[in-house]
Amino acid sequence: MSEGIESILTETRVFPPFPNLVPDAAISGMDAYHVLCQEAERSPDDFWARMARENLNWTTPFAQVLDESKAPFYRWFADGEMNVSANCLDKHLNTPTADKTAIIFESDDGQVSTITYKQLYQRVCQFANGLKSLGHKAGDRAIIYLPMSIEAVVAMQACARLGIIHSVVFGGFSSKSLHERAVDVGATLVITADEQVRSGKSIPLKSAVDEALAMGGCEAVRHVIVYNRTGGPVEWNERLDLWMHDVSANQPEECAPVPLNAEHPLFILYTSGSTGKPKGVQHATAGFLLWALLTVKWTFDSKDTDVFWCTADVGWVTGHTYIAYGPLAAGLTQVVFEGVPTYPNVGRFWEMIQRHKVTVFYTAPTAIRSLSKAADSSLEFHPREYDLSSLRIIGSVGEPINPDAWMWYYTNVGRERCPVLDTWWQTETGGHMITPLPGVTPLKPGSCTLPLPGITAAVVDEAGDVVGPGKGGFLVIQRPWPAMIRTIWGDPDRFVKSYFPPELKGAYLAGDGAQRDADGYFWIMGRIDDVLNVSGHRLGTMEVESALVAHALVAEAAVVGRPDATTGEAVVAFVVLKRSLPEGEEAVMIARQLRDWVAKEIGPIAKPKEIRFGENLPKTRSGKIMRRLLRVVAKGEAITQDVSTLENPAILDQMSQSH
Ligand code: WTA
Repeated sequence: MSEGIESILTETRVFPPFPNLVPDAAISGMDAYHVLCQEAERSPDDFWARMARENLNWTTPFAQVLDESKAPFYRWFADGEMNVSANCLDKHLNTPTADKTAIIFESDDGQVSTITYKQLYQRVCQFANGLKSLGHKAGDRAIIYLPMSIEAVVAMQACARLGIIHSVVFGGFSSKSLHERAVDVGATLVITADEQVRSGKSIPLKSAVDEALAMGGCEAVRHVIVYNRTGGPVEWNERLDLWMHDVSANQPEECAPVPLNAEHPLFILYTSGSTGKPKGVQHATAGFLLWALLTVKWTFDSKDTDVFWCTADVGWVTGHTYIAYGPLAAGLTQVVFEGVPTYPNVGRFWEMIQRHKVTVFYTAPTAIRSLSKAADSSLEFHPREYDLSSLRIIGSVGEPINPDAWMWYYTNVGRERCPVLDTWWQTETGGHMITPLPGVTPLKPGSCTLPLPGITAAVVDEAGDVVGPGKGGFLVIQRPWPAMIRTIWGDPDRFVKSYFPPELKGAYLAGDGAQRDADGYFWIMGRIDDVLNVSGHRLGTMEVESALVAHALVAEAAVVGRPDATTGEAVVAFVVLKRSLPEGEEAVMIARQLRDWVAKEIGPIAKPKEIRFGENLPKTRSGKIMRRLLRVVAKGEAITQDVSTLENPAILDQMSQSH
């Protein structure tokens, strides 16, 4: 990581806003940005109240803005009522947007289907009526385990319409991860598909649900609703299973949205922390949608004519805020893509931008890095070979984007006429927090630049005091904001401990290291805890360690990250077996077994890139694993630190060999 930081901080290039994007931008010019920031600073309550009144439709208007009485369990607009689905769909009904395309869906094999806002409204209403007739209601929890599809959006919106709290589980997670989440939320409903299709291959989903339910503890599940994606084989449980099309069939095309308290939980989304199991991040109805909509307007400077494409999966927060909710609330036409960027070839993204005339494109640095590498070796699929002239804004999310990748994206995809928006945010923040704005911010490659109006980001030291420019520290948000995490589902103590440590004087601790430069720009340095970021996916080292030690052969395991040119970070696992140290072919074989095991326990994204065996782990005399040293060993660097406190220095040599 240190090389990355140095190269970032010597970055001196600055790209002023493109003059053609400034005049009619949602926030036009630096002065307008400052006016909004000052309004928010002078009277945060008045600012947020104005935003919430101007941007959301309320069934019961709120009088109260921020309720701090139970801080840090903040509540926003808590005496108001509204419905998220009504704010995404119904509000467009008697407007020209009703007949506008809401979603352009492209399947893995390139088939395109579209749905208008009116049709989407009807589909959501029919499915919601079906759910209602099955007895599902506000406050119940539903697991959604679906591939990227119009149906995934329908399922999420239908839940929101009834106040059913959804918890979407990424289709790449194993049955075990699915089980853990279903038990933790106390799900009464699961919505899944027979199979998902990626790179021309069908991968079963329904059978993973069957396995998860068979693990026990999910007896509260009353229905498993199955979207028929491929017609592939499924085992049918008459007691639980229903086809999604049967649930919707013959249902009325109107379903009254349930008025919900502003603080009613909209969804729970699991994400990794530094200790223990993934945490269920709970978001609230009004605050979340307000920020989803405002950031689509401000950051992406949304226009009625836009074709918006966020390439994330709905299994991650990016797919919640910038697929399932924000773009719909803004009335945009958006692309939803089932497949992967490399199938049938590495030009797939560029071809799709060209085909659908995408104007705003939002993806992850990992995709940019791997596609730039691929483009260099297969020139026929280089972005330069495609007509990308429809693009006006390109964005990045999920991990630090290194200046090289930034420049490649800016030059080859944006053709030096689209701003690269490096958006910093988290599952917990609900939406963008620190990001350039197309009509405002001079760009610096590798910096997420400045906080949005109303967001009080700062870099502080261990005592919670703000540090000066050029000094590293903890990234915090000093004042609450409407889209913030409300709690960790079922674990309020962990919520307080994870995000509001007492020394930080009430500020929200993001878990990232950062520093500001002389212009006040933020530069994110990566996580300060034991959370890895592999291809933009958050992964707790503890989770991978627990998975490894659950294997019959493994006595002990320690997992660290090391920098990787494509995936940002890669998982390196140091493993002590219960048997003698394996060598040669045998070591390779066991390493493969362990990798497959982790994929089965958590999901393929958690597979260690390298496994290193030793007779022991490097520990201090008091028995603490020296992760600091393991990180150095993982990078293949020589150890220059003092190892005199180490119980067993010879281990480091053994551990330098990778399998
Ligand atoms: C990292 C994804 C640098 C960061 C929306 C954060 C970033 C974690 C950026 C959240 C960025 C996200 N620059 N780092 N622009 N965006 N991160 O919860 O470490 O999946 O804490 O939310 O990703 O990941 P999460």
